[in-house]
Amino acid sequence: MSKKILSALFGAGLAALALSPVAMADPQELAEMHAEMGSGCETCHADGEPSADGAHEFEQCQSCHGSLAEMDAVHQPHDGNLMCADCHAPHDSNVGDKPTCDSCHDDGRTAESILK
Ligand code: HEC
Ligand code: HEC
Ligand code: HEC
Ligand code: HEC
Repeated sequence: MSKKILSALFGAGLAALALSPVAMADPQELAEMHAEMGSGCETCHADGEPSADGAHEFEQCQSCHGSLAEMDAVHQPHDGNLMCADCHAPHDSNVGDKPTCDSCHDDGRTAESILK
C-alpha cells in the first residue's frame, strides 16, 4: 500500500474517532444529571411536580449550592433579581453549558468580561 493511501486512511480514522459518540460523550441534560446523582425528580420538585412559581426549586438549588450572594461576580449582582433557572434552565440546558447574557443585557457583556 502506498504511503499516500496509508496516510489518507489514517486521517479518515482520526476524523471518524473525533465524530464517534464513544469518543465524545453525549451532552447530558442538567435536570437528568441532578436526578441521577440526587433523589430523582424530588431532588428539585416537591412530590415530583413542578411548582407554579419555581420557589421550591430555587430553594432546593440554594440548599446545595448556596445563595447567589455567596457566589462569584457573575452571580452576585442577580441576588434578589433572578432565580437559578432563569439562566440554568434544568430541562433546557446541558452539563457544561455556560449561560449567556444577551437575552437580558444588550451591551455585549459576557461572563468573562465580568470575571476578568
Ligand atoms: C435540577 C433540578 C431539577 C430536576 C432534577 C428536575 N427538574 Fe423539572 N424543572 C426544574 C425547574 C427549575 C423547572 C422550571 C422550568 C424551567 O425553568 O426549566 C422545571 C420544570 C419542569 C416541568 C414543567 C415543564 C417544563 O419543562 O418547563 C416538568 C413537567 C418537570 N420539570 C418535570 C420533571 C421530572 C419528571 C423530573 C425527573 C425526571 C424533573 N423535572 C427533574 C428543575 C428540575
Ligand atoms: C445571570 C445568569 C445566572 C444565574 C441567575 C445563575 N447562574 Fe450559575 N452560572 C452562570 C454563568 C454565566 C456561569 C459560568 C461562569 C461562572 O462560573 O461564573 C455559571 C456557573 C455556575 C456553576 C459552575 C458550573 C461550571 O461551569 O463549573 C454553578 C454550579 C452554577 N452556576 C450554579 C448556579 C446556581 C445554584 C444558581 C442559583 C443560586 C445560579 N447558578 C444562577 C450564570 C448564572
Ligand atoms: C442535592 C443537591 C443539589 C441540588 C438540589 C441542585 N444541585 Fe446543582 N449540582 C449539585 C452537584 C453535586 C453538582 C456537581 C458538582 C458541581 O458542579 O458543583 C451540581 C452541578 C450543577 C451545575 C454545574 C453543571 C456543569 O455544567 O458542570 C449547575 C449549573 C447546577 N448544578 C445548577 C443547579 C440548579 C439550577 C439547581 C436547582 C434548579 C440545582 N443545581 C440543584 C448538587 C445539587
Ligand atoms: C434572565 C435575565 C438576565 C440574564 C440572562 C443576565 N442578567 Fe444580569 N441582570 C438581570 C437583572 C434583572 C438585573 C438587575 C436589574 C439591573 O440592574 O438591570 C441584572 C443586573 C446585572 C448586573 C449589575 C447591574 C449592571 O447592569 O451592571 C451585572 C454586572 C450583570 N447583571 C451581569 C450579567 C452577566 C455577566 C450576565 C451573563 C453571564 C447576565 N447578567 C445575564 C438580568 C439578567
